[in-house]
Amino acid sequence: MEETAQLKIGDKVYELPIIEGTENEKAIDISALRGQSGLITIDPGYKNTGSTKSAITFLDGEKGILRYRGYSIEELAEKSTFLEVSHLLIYGELPNAETLNSFRKDITQHTLIHEDIKNILEGFPSNSHPMGVLSSLVSSLTAFYPESLDPNRSVAEVDLSIKRLLAKLPTMAAWAYKNEIGHPANYPDNRLDYCSNFLKMMFAVPSADYEVDPVVANALDKLLILHADHEQNCSTSTVRIVGSSHSSLYASVAAGIGALWGPLHGGANQAVIEMLQNIKKDGGDVKKYMAKAKDKNDPFRLMGFGHRVYKNFDPRATIIKKAADDVLAQLGVNDPILEIAKGLEEIALNDPYFIERKLYPNVDFYSGIIYRAIGIPTSMFTVMFTIGRLPGWIAQWKEMRENKEPIGRPRQVYTGMNLRPFVALDKR
Ligand code: MLT
Repeated sequence: MEETAQLKIGDKVYELPIIEGTENEKAIDISALRGQSGLITIDPGYKNTGSTKSAITFLDGEKGILRYRGYSIEELAEKSTFLEVSHLLIYGELPNAETLNSFRKDITQHTLIHEDIKNILEGFPSNSHPMGVLSSLVSSLTAFYPESLDPNRSVAEVDLSIKRLLAKLPTMAAWAYKNEIGHPANYPDNRLDYCSNFLKMMFAVPSADYEVDPVVANALDKLLILHADHEQNCSTSTVRIVGSSHSSLYASVAAGIGALWGPLHGGANQAVIEMLQNIKKDGGDVKKYMAKAKDKNDPFRLMGFGHRVYKNFDPRATIIKKAADDVLAQLGVNDPILEIAKGLEEIALNDPYFIERKLYPNVDFYSGIIYRAIGIPTSMFTVMFTIGRLPGWIAQWKEMRENKEPIGRPRQVYTGMNLRPFVALDKR
C-alpha cells in the first residue's frame, strides 16, 4: 500500500504520494498538485525541495554522513585516489586495476589543450580572476570539439567529451594561473599522476627543475576527493538545470563554475584567507574578532564556520583538519596567518556561543589553510574546488541525461502590478 500525504485546501483533501529512498529518506511527490488543485508550492532557495532522485551521493546533515555511491568519504579519502573516485562517481563503480589503468591512459592522452587557447588567454587582462578565465576556457572547448555540442551523441562520443574535460581542466586551470601572474604556461608532463602533473604545471619555472613533493601531491589528492561531489548543491543544481535544456556538458560545467565562484559557495575558502589576512593586518587579535562575530551590530562576518547542510559537523572538515595538521608539520610551515586560523579554531571549538550555534570550522576553513601551505595562491582556491568538483558535476549531468529528466522550469508567485492601460508618453 503506497504511503500518501493528505493536503486539505478549503473543503478539498488531496492525496499526494510519498516516495522513499534507499536510505529511508521520504519525500512528498507534488508533481500532480498544480494540475489537481491549481496551487504550486514555494520554497525560496529550494532548501526543502528535492529536484531529483539520484544514486550518486548520500549525505545526512544531522549525522555528518557523506558517501559516494555507498562508500564512506572517510574510507575513500584514506584508501583511494582522486582518479579512482572520479571513476566511481561517473560510472558507478570503483575501477579494478585494469579499468583504472585504462581510465588513467584515456585521461593522460587528452591533457594537452589546443594552442589557440593561448590566444584566448592573451585576450584576458593579467589580473583576471582565474574562475572567470576558466569558465570561458571550458566553454571554448565547444569550439574545439563541436561534436560535444550534441549531448545525444553515442555513449562513446559522450564519454570522450567527459574524458577530455577531466584531462584538460587541470591544464586550463594552471594556464589561467600562469596568465594571471604573467608567466609562461607549462605543458602537461604525462609521466606524472593527476595531482603531480597539475602541481608541476602550476609551479615549474624554466630556470629550474621542479620536483613534486609527495606530501603535497598526496594532500591535494585527498582534498580533491573530499570536494568531488555533494549532492544537489548550488553549482551542481546549476549544471543539472543547464544540462536539462540539452545544452552540452561543457556549457553546463561552464555555468557550474560561475555558480561555484560565489563567496557563499565555492568562493568561501578564498573568503576565509582574506578574513585571516584582514585580522592579521589589524593586529591578529583573535579574541577581539571572535567577540565581533558574536556582536549582532558588528559588520564582521566569520567565514569558514558552520554549514547550511551539516548541523553538527562537516565530515570533510574532520578529515581535512588532520590532513592540514600533517601537511603543516611535514612541511615545517610557520605562517602567522595559519596561527591566527588555529586561534579562531580553538575558540570556536570551545566557546559555548559557537558550539551552541554549530559554528564549527568547516571544509572551506581547512582547505584554504592547506592550499596556502602548499603554495596555491588565494585567487586559485576556488579553482581548486572546481577541479575537485568536476567529476561530481559530470556524474550528475550524466545521470540527469541518462534518466531523460525534463527541462527544469520552476514556477513563481507573481507579486507585481495588476492589469493597467498603456499611457501615452505625453500623458505620463
Ligand atoms: C559543497 O560541497 O558544495 C558545499 O558544502 C555547499 C553545499 O553542499 O551546499
